[in-house]
Amino acid sequence: MQLHEASVVLTGASGGIGMEIASALCAAGARVLAVARHQESLLPLLARYPQNMHWVAADLTLPFDRHKVLAAVEAIGGINLLINAAGVNHFAMLEQLDDSDINAMLAVNVSAPICMTKLLLPQLKQADSAMVVNVGSTYGSIGYPGYASYCATKFALRGFSEALRRELADTRVSVLYVAPRATRTSMNSAAAQALNDALKANVDDPKTVASAVLHAIAGDHRDLYLGWPERFFVRLNSLLPNLVDRGLRKQLPLIRRLSHKPENEQKP
Ligand SMILES: NC(=O)c1ccc[n+]([C@@H]2O[C@H](COP(=O)([O-])OP(=O)(O)OC[C@H]3O[C@@H](n4cnc5c(N)ncnc54)[C@H](OP(=O)(O)O)[C@@H]3O)[C@@H](O)[C@H]2O)c1
Repeated sequence: MQLHEASVVLTGASGGIGMEIASALCAAGARVLAVARHQESLLPLLARYPQNMHWVAADLTLPFDRHKVLAAVEAIGGINLLINAAGVNHFAMLEQLDDSDINAMLAVNVSAPICMTKLLLPQLKQADSAMVVNVGSTYGSIGYPGYASYCATKFALRGFSEALRRELADTRVSVLYVAPRATRTSMNSAAAQALNDALKANVDDPKTVASAVLHAIAGDHRDLYLGWPERFFVRLNSLLPNLVDRGLRKQLPLIRRLSHKPENEQKP
């Protein structure tokens, strides 16, 4: 897809990764409908790209708000790119999570992108060439302790992306599944960062992720897994899961200890 011809709905636009994607898209000449509940972090970009970028206030868990996004799309005459990047995560052992945390992850990470895609597909199908981009995670391929519910949502998003790609195989709409590894954004609580530090995990800058995403969109790729060791572990996990079980078993005391730390404050 030619980025300067892209007319985009971008969810999660106010977040660490979303904002960098929005910025890179605008710089490439695309038109962006930035979807988020909060506008504050988007103000500099809205001021910098007044022609390219517009904000739609929406809580994606609410059908009424999703229809507001559709109305905004109709008002600009359609789109050819939907990027589902909104997401929430809580690093905690399953028993520590409230049902409301679990339901929020399922609603934002699974139901919202599926329902948004369904709602906007008729618009996407009208374009000469269109794409749905779903932002998953390495944790959409590797089940990781401390992230059981989050992993469940990202596995679901990966399954949705694969099935949808096959469902749309005879249309002009393609599907790109993106799996970032750990990325430096406020999604990661202090405890999650402490775990990444303790494990010496690679943590990407959100700019790096955005630039890889744009490259994958421009190249009409079907998936994007960031980081070579992570790509290797995804393969290893699918071929030899017992080996990965044993490796992660060794990390369990650390994960359990850090996930119980009092500073494990979650984002509201
Ligand atoms: N950061 C990482 O380490 C990492 C790694 C792998 C994958 N990912 C994935 O990458 C994507 C972006 O993550 P990020 O790190 O940029 O997260 P982030 O900085 O926490 O941003 C999250 C975004 O989701 C939006 N959002 C949350 N709940 C929403 C709701 N109910 N309705 C509408 N929007 C909502 C937020 O917007 P408002 O609050 O303004 O509504 C914000 O724009 C997510 O799907 C995440 O799972 C992140």
